[in-house]
Amino acid sequence: MLHAADGVEEVVLVDSREDRIRNLARSYKTAPWHNALAPALAHVDAVVVATPPSTHVAVALQAIEAGKHVLVEKPLAPTSEGARRLESAARAAGVVLMVGHTFEYNPAVRKLRELVQNEELGEVYYIDSARLNLGLYQNDVNVILDLAPHDISIINHVLGRKPVAAQAWASRHAHRRFEDVAYLRLFYDDFFDDRGLSANIHVSWLDPCKVRRVTAVGSQKMAVYDDLAADDRIRVLDKGVCLPADGDNMTQPPTSYRYGDIVVPFIAPDEPLAVQDRHFIECIASGARPLTDGQNGLAVVEALEAAELSRRLGRPVLLEELSSVGRFTQSFSLGNGHSPSSGNGHSPSSGNGHSPGSATRVVAVPGRLSAAAPPPTFPSQGAR
Ligand SMILES: NC(=O)c1ccc[n+]([C@@H]2O[C@H](COP(=O)([O-])OP(=O)(O)OC[C@H]3O[C@@H](n4cnc5c(N)ncnc54)[C@H](O)[C@@H]3O)[C@@H](O)[C@H]2O)c1
Repeated sequence: MLHAADGVEEVVLVDSREDRIRNLARSYKTAPWHNALAPALAHVDAVVVATPPSTHVAVALQAIEAGKHVLVEKPLAPTSEGARRLESAARAAGVVLMVGHTFEYNPAVRKLRELVQNEELGEVYYIDSARLNLGLYQNDVNVILDLAPHDISIINHVLGRKPVAAQAWASRHAHRRFEDVAYLRLFYDDFFDDRGLSANIHVSWLDPCKVRRVTAVGSQKMAVYDDLAADDRIRVLDKGVCLPADGDNMTQPPTSYRYGDIVVPFIAPDEPLAVQDRHFIECIASGARPLTDGQNGLAVVEALEAAELSRRLGRPVLLEELSSVGRFTQSFSLGNGHSPSSGNGHSPSSGNGHSPGSATRVVAVPGRLSAAAPPPTFPSQGAR
């Protein structure tokens, strides 16, 4: 993807594993490669961090402190403390910080947002999301940190706001250390309001069926976004329940159901990873703030952290509680969050060292290029 993006002059490959980097180098014959980030930094303007989540903060800080623009794969960091460090380091260095919330660049998700924001579904009652499959098991984070960033970023984007509280249950079956099945509930209104807007998320590495589905249920209509569907990724269903005429009688259930047309809106055939990469390059060139900037990444990490805390405490957690439970976030931290001593002999470049409109040299650390290599993924099969 990056090779093909306008404005990218050259892509440099980096992976600390010799076998991985040799494989990558075979696929991208003309691309220079390194088995550490430090020697690559002198030759690039920007870095894509696609290493395991526990390493995101250390690798991204190394790049930011060298004055490079950074696109970090989801989640931005394993803790909100790490995400904040990246935000403030990028601000201080004057570089672009973007998080790879790929689904926010997915035309189907944008359509769902449009339906919700234009109130075509009426008042949104709740959103339900399922991201299930057999695998891919990870070895540095649980299924919540691996998969739920997608669902949370989609739901935040569609609703245009972030949750106020989270609740989570998780269980560990086939993994020695990490939970492989989890259920999250995010509260977007007052937590104590049982009619408030909420979202339910089911994520699993241990399910016989591959499911990538988001359902938005409104007072007028319902919409289903199925990322695995070939032609009808979004369906808008004119279905609902009608309240009983005797609206004050709390003992009566809804008396009638509405079954109407099912509409399949046209979705532009854009590959989300390519859209995301183009946006990153454009933001570097123009100095614009990315759609999925550090704050956007932090919002998702805070929801993950509240869910993780809820799972451990066995009770719902308000996001505003997080600042007062710093001790928890420290122990939850998987990466060391510290900038590695660069020892690279390169002094940080002044600002971003990049003039608007000039070509960008990007270092991919690593995996993203292999994930994005032909055959092309469509519409978002590269996304878990
Ligand atoms: N946006 C999406 O849809 C999507 C899809 C898949 C993965 N991801 C994200 O991409 C990232 C990578 O996932 P993956 O499945 O490719 O992981 P992976 O474990 O398959 O690959 C990670 C690679 O990083 C290398 N590495 C580790 N530490 C390094 C360091 N300090 N310097 C250089 N290389 C280092 C490893 O050798 C390995 O080759 C994760 O953050 C994941 O959440 C995003």
